[in-house]
Amino acid sequence: MSILPRPNLEAIKTYKPGKPIEEVARELKLEGKIVKLASNENPLGTSPKALHAMQKALHESFLYPDDNAFYLKAKLADKHNVNPENIIIGNGSVELIYFACLAYLNPYERLMRSNGSFLMAKIGTEVMGSVIQEIPLKEYRHDLDRMLNSITAQTKIIYIDNPINPLGTCLWHNEMEKFLSKVPDFVLVIIDEAYYDYITTKEYPDSFKFLTEGKNVLVLRTFSKIHGLAGLRIGYGISKPEIISALMKVRTPFNASRLAQIGATAALDDTTHIKRSRKVNEAGKRYLYKELKKLKVFHLQTYGNFVFANFATDSKEIFEELQKRKVIARMIKEYGFQNALRISIGTPAENKKMIAALQEVLKA
Ligand SMILES: Cc1ncc(COP(=O)(O)O)c(C=O)c1O
Repeated sequence: MSILPRPNLEAIKTYKPGKPIEEVARELKLEGKIVKLASNENPLGTSPKALHAMQKALHESFLYPDDNAFYLKAKLADKHNVNPENIIIGNGSVELIYFACLAYLNPYERLMRSNGSFLMAKIGTEVMGSVIQEIPLKEYRHDLDRMLNSITAQTKIIYIDNPINPLGTCLWHNEMEKFLSKVPDFVLVIIDEAYYDYITTKEYPDSFKFLTEGKNVLVLRTFSKIHGLAGLRIGYGISKPEIISALMKVRTPFNASRLAQIGATAALDDTTHIKRSRKVNEAGKRYLYKELKKLKVFHLQTYGNFVFANFATDSKEIFEELQKRKVIARMIKEYGFQNALRISIGTPAENKKMIAALQEVLKA
């Protein structure tokens, strides 16, 4: 007799990350260097300071990590001018989206998100058997007015990724401020700032200010992007102590590994790597805009480390042709974009290879 999982799991589409390079190479029998611009990783690699600290600590791997992440929380508290009680560490920031669903959603309650934004909140809601409330995007951006008008007594969480993955579009401080002033206080607003470190625009929201004003916000950040620690799985959330303590109740012990905590703590000091990564991203962005324009490919201005490019035809064909040329982008059909690819911004050489391959594919 088969054992039945909870019925609400049946409809869930498992999150599909971009394939690892090794798998693509094996499947397509590709040899030599493959350019992977599919998972928004840092093309410059791991923060050297983090690497050094982790190498020194490797032999401590037999020890459990500090379950309270004392040093990392202390450093983050100092950086963001909050208390350690305001902070939770996650096994990647995705875990914290999941924790919020576990801690707050009753089956009859709703999580609101934009249709086309990062999928983890949708999956968390479905796991809980709760109701997902999807709001259409407006001109590729979150439609905050429509979100406000759609709030009901059952709305418990609003998830906003800023910028949106996979589009790269952003909300500004004045828009968020106005929005949050109207959100009722029975709603938790998750502001996912995974790409925060790439932002160079003054109008970007100061989300910690909303927290100081007493708003029910949970701000998420990650070490996976500019710090280059995606493989270690570590991110953090900042919120009111009572929200953090609810999230801590659903956390599994030792969710942030010892090496991840050590690497993340050291990465925060690696200003050289952060600045270099931002510079490479800005230059790559300008290059991709210029070349995509020449190729007459519709694309959006991005505030992250990736570019949304929409083609005149089904993206699968373009994706597969690029793969044959040893370049991997990301199809985003599960986000509702049938003709689009998300292209992570790479090193100058990687970006060039992507454009050269794209030229060939589009010509053919
Ligand atoms: C909006 C958004 N949130 C969260 C994540 C995942 O971050 P982490 O690696 O910290 O789990 C991503 C990763 O691509 C993302 O785009």
